[in-house]
Amino acid sequence: MKHLCFEGISALSEHNWIMDRILVQPSGPLSGDVKIKGAKNSALKLMAACTLTEGTFRLNNVPDITDVRLMSELLVSLGMTVERIPESTLEIINPGNLAPEAPYELVEKMRASIVVLGPLLATYGTAKVALPGGDDFGPRPIDMHLRGLETLGAQFHSQHGYIEGNCEGLIGARIVLEFPSVGATENVMMAAVRAKGETTIENAAREPEIADLATFLNRMGGNVLGAGTSTIVIEGVDELVAVEHSVIPDRIEAATYLAATGIAGGEVNLIGARPDHMDMLCQKVGEMGMRISADPNGLWVMCNKDLQSVDLATLPYPGIATDYKPFLVSMLTVASGVGIVTENLFSGRFRYVDELIRMGADIRTEGHHAVIRGVRRLSGAPVRAHDIRAGAALVIAALKADGETEIRDPEHIDRGYEGLVENLSSLGADIQRLS
Ligand code: UD1
Repeated sequence: MKHLCFEGISALSEHNWIMDRILVQPSGPLSGDVKIKGAKNSALKLMAACTLTEGTFRLNNVPDITDVRLMSELLVSLGMTVERIPESTLEIINPGNLAPEAPYELVEKMRASIVVLGPLLATYGTAKVALPGGDDFGPRPIDMHLRGLETLGAQFHSQHGYIEGNCEGLIGARIVLEFPSVGATENVMMAAVRAKGETTIENAAREPEIADLATFLNRMGGNVLGAGTSTIVIEGVDELVAVEHSVIPDRIEAATYLAATGIAGGEVNLIGARPDHMDMLCQKVGEMGMRISADPNGLWVMCNKDLQSVDLATLPYPGIATDYKPFLVSMLTVASGVGIVTENLFSGRFRYVDELIRMGADIRTEGHHAVIRGVRRLSGAPVRAHDIRAGAALVIAALKADGETEIRDPEHIDRGYEGLVENLSSLGADIQRLS
């Protein structure tokens, strides 16, 4: 019995020893420049689009993050070659004749991989992709992706955890999406570019990443009009070519440093950020008391007074992105007054607030609403990162927490951030990562 007990303790301490963690001490004001990397949510879709034709692609400004590595593994499993060459460039070689099957081992780690379905189906007439499961912020259905592709002539059946699609050439059609889903819009766009005739997507998602994908497809020889608006018209083409393209800057990464500045105070330049992609967010944090200004290098942000609470609701673009919400919640935890946050996109996206509550935040959630009563300061505690944005939100909240905050499971943050700790540290935050 004694022996068993001893084994238990040594196993626990061994586990603690190998666990990565981020340690944050109260910090601020922040000051300096941060170079914003390429957008994860764009890079992943552009990588998927490289399945559409053979040749050598070059994608510049691709962040070195886990999700990009997973998408690279997926492309390699299809038969492609992916190599990272200096200065954030990925060289992707599509030799043609790919094996159009995305295995469960990769899809379960990254649900965005479902976007290979449309381009593979359109190119090979068949595609098999593991069904993505739910994730930490609720179920992620793909019914709109499938309905859109069916309207173009594909047929699907699912068995053994895979969805298999077949078609004998896709035919352009009018597709009305029930909701402006980012993934469904992208899947249909990439399929329609190879369909015969004209496809119209009504109620299309308008995110900047959709416009970036359209620019890429057009560079390849596609004919996509209206991306960035609710109606996208795609004229199918017979031939596409491999090209070079630079990924747009990551508005969500930029929002993370903007919110960090709001919480810790200070003055920061977000180099390369696109203020025109972040209008509603800038308006909201302006109402909270931050000063923000577009400049030729990107976005200048400053906070030299206490934040004021506001109400906000997440909406499809150009509304406030659901991915910004965890950072705004962190800001509201230390703002004066009471703010009500409504989540309209993903049902479970308040799960991480329990971690903020452990840090002394006053938050009550009810369904898709959270009521946040600001406190003067949070209190450092061990907390766990549950997903990419929730993890980053805990890191920036910790800047205004007394004592030490230990963020566990930082590998969730690595899925979407290259150098979060290094960047915050270069701005003057007292932060380090222990491996
Ligand atoms: C993408 C982003 C994610 C962002 C989200 C909303 C990537 C990798 N992820 O996710 O970071 O939070 O956009 O801006 O780019 N829905 C259905 N049926 C479908 C598709 C979606 O019901 O077939 C629902 C979803 O459950 C959700 C809503 O529509 O409630 C929006 O989802 P969608 O825009 O598709 O998000 P993703 O593309 O998964």
